[in-house]
Order: sequence, then C-alpha cells, then structure tokens
Amino acid sequence: MPRERHVRNYDRQMAHQVVNLREAFATFREHWSPRIAAELNGQQVKLVKFQGEFVWHSHEHEDEMFLVHKGSFRMEFRDRAVEVRAGEFLVVPRGVEHRPVAPEEVEVILFEPASTLNTGNTRNERTVRELKRL
Ligand code: NI
Repeated sequence: MPRERHVRNYDRQMAHQVVNLREAFATFREHWSPRIAAELNGQQVKLVKFQGEFVWHSHEHEDEMFLVHKGSFRMEFRDRAVEVRAGEFLVVPRGVEHRPVAPEEVEVILFEPASTLNTGNTRNERTVRELKRL
C-alpha cells in the first residue's frame, strides 16, 4: 500500500480515540524503540522508554520535543546538561547535538516530524528505521 494512503487510513482509525498513556506504555518493554501513538499534520507522537546512555547525535532539519510521562532523564548538550522530570518537557532545536541519559527507566513522549530518525546524523545499533505502532 502506498505510504500516503496507509497514513490516511491510520489517521482515520486513530481519530477521536482517547489514548491512555499508562496503558499505552504498558504494551511494550524495549528501551530506545519508539512506538508511534498518533500522527497529525505530518508530525508523529511517539512513546519511548529509555534507560542508560543514548548516542550523541543531532537532527539537521527537525526540532524534537521530549515530554516526560514517568521518571526523569538528563539531556546532555555539548556545553551543559538539563534534568527533565515527569510533567516537564524540553524542545531540542534542529542542529543541536544532544544525548539523553537515564540512570533509571523513564517514559517519554516524543513529538517530531514523521521523517525524524531516532539517532539523527548517527547510525548505530540503536538506529530504528521502521517504527512499530501501538
Ligand atoms: Ni534526537
């Protein structure tokens, strides 16, 4: 099925459906493997669990929003780091190198364009090209 048609069908299915975050996060356990929860206006809402250190990377064309649902993590930049806790969010502007680090498991909602690759300009074993849907 052409991707555009697939996306349209998916949008229609998801429209008007309430997403319960606690239940949605309970459907998977893998770390660093974002799940697509919804799409709107060319953006995707992704749910992801982190634990440990991710890779340094940046996204040339995409800003990324990280909203913490449960737990907390540290977002490292080359010149500083910030802690992001449950109920808080952070937007990482395009082009800015960043690395999420979570000493303990954290549940995060990502909001970013559908084209965004999780490891940005870096490719390694954490790179996920085909995201699963909830
Ligand atoms: Ni990123």
